[in-house]
Amino acid sequence: MGATRVIETLVLSLLLFLSGSSATQRQKTRAGPRLPCKQMVFYFHDILYNGENAKNATSAIVGAPAWGNRTILAGQNHFGNVVVFDDPITLDNNLHSIPVGRAQGFYLYDRKDYFTAWLGFSFFFNSTQYRGTIIFAGADTLNKTRDISVIGGTGDFFMARGIATLTIDAVEGDVYFRLQVYIKLFECW
Ligand SMILES: *[C@@H]1O[C@H](CO)[C@@H](O)[C@H](O)[C@H]1NC(C)=O
Ligand SMILES: *[C@@H]1O[C@H](CO)[C@@H](O)[C@H](O)[C@H]1NC(C)=O
Ligand SMILES: *[C@@H]1O[C@H](CO)[C@@H](O)[C@H](O)[C@H]1NC(C)=O
Ligand SMILES: *[C@@H]1O[C@H](CO)[C@@H](O)[C@H](O)[C@H]1NC(C)=O
Repeated sequence: MGATRVIETLVLSLLLFLSGSSATQRQKTRAGPRLPCKQMVFYFHDILYNGENAKNATSAIVGAPAWGNRTILAGQNHFGNVVVFDDPITLDNNLHSIPVGRAQGFYLYDRKDYFTAWLGFSFFFNSTQYRGTIIFAGADTLNKTRDISVIGGTGDFFMARGIATLTIDAVEGDVYFRLQVYIKLFECW
């Protein structure tokens, strides 16, 4: 092998090595450490209208299947019911604590043979602690805990993305439930 050939081989190996290592570097950056950049815990309180609590209710059935009505959630795992809510958000699990914002949106029951729902809502904050919105969407298996997506935000939560773990903190029949929302943002600006 001539000297030129040796140098060519060396240069080629070096190039391969460099491109290989930079690809690995890129992958590492993309994969990144999977740690949240911000974590927060809130509670929200839903009081569903049941024909008797118009003053107290924070949510209402706005859609029902033909076999149901908009006063009482339908049978068959509430399949087909759509509920719109405007619920107070608190920092602890007390319904009567001063709210820091409102949870506003809807849930709809989307499975007949099993209890599941679909959630789409925002947290709207206009307090001294927080100002802005966080947008949530996702399937709710109504298990003890489940994850839904944080798909965006504005203000203090500009471009927020992450996961929110929902835990049922309390239930009183079909009228009241309280959810703990543990937000883990993986993108913060
Ligand atoms: C409103 O509803 C909640 C949940 O059912 C209940 O704990 C509370 O006492 C009610 N408040 C009034 C004023 O009826
Ligand atoms: C709604 O349906 C429930 C049973 O699912 C029934 O008890 C109630 O009377 C109905 N209410 C109205 C206003 O039709
Ligand atoms: C937010 O709070 C400020 C100050 O309390 C108030 O002036 C403003 O109207 C509120 N905005 C909304 C959209 O509620
Ligand atoms: C929900 O809980 C049930 C019963 O504990 C379990 O079989 C199911 O896999 C859970 N579903 C999800 C999506 O975690």
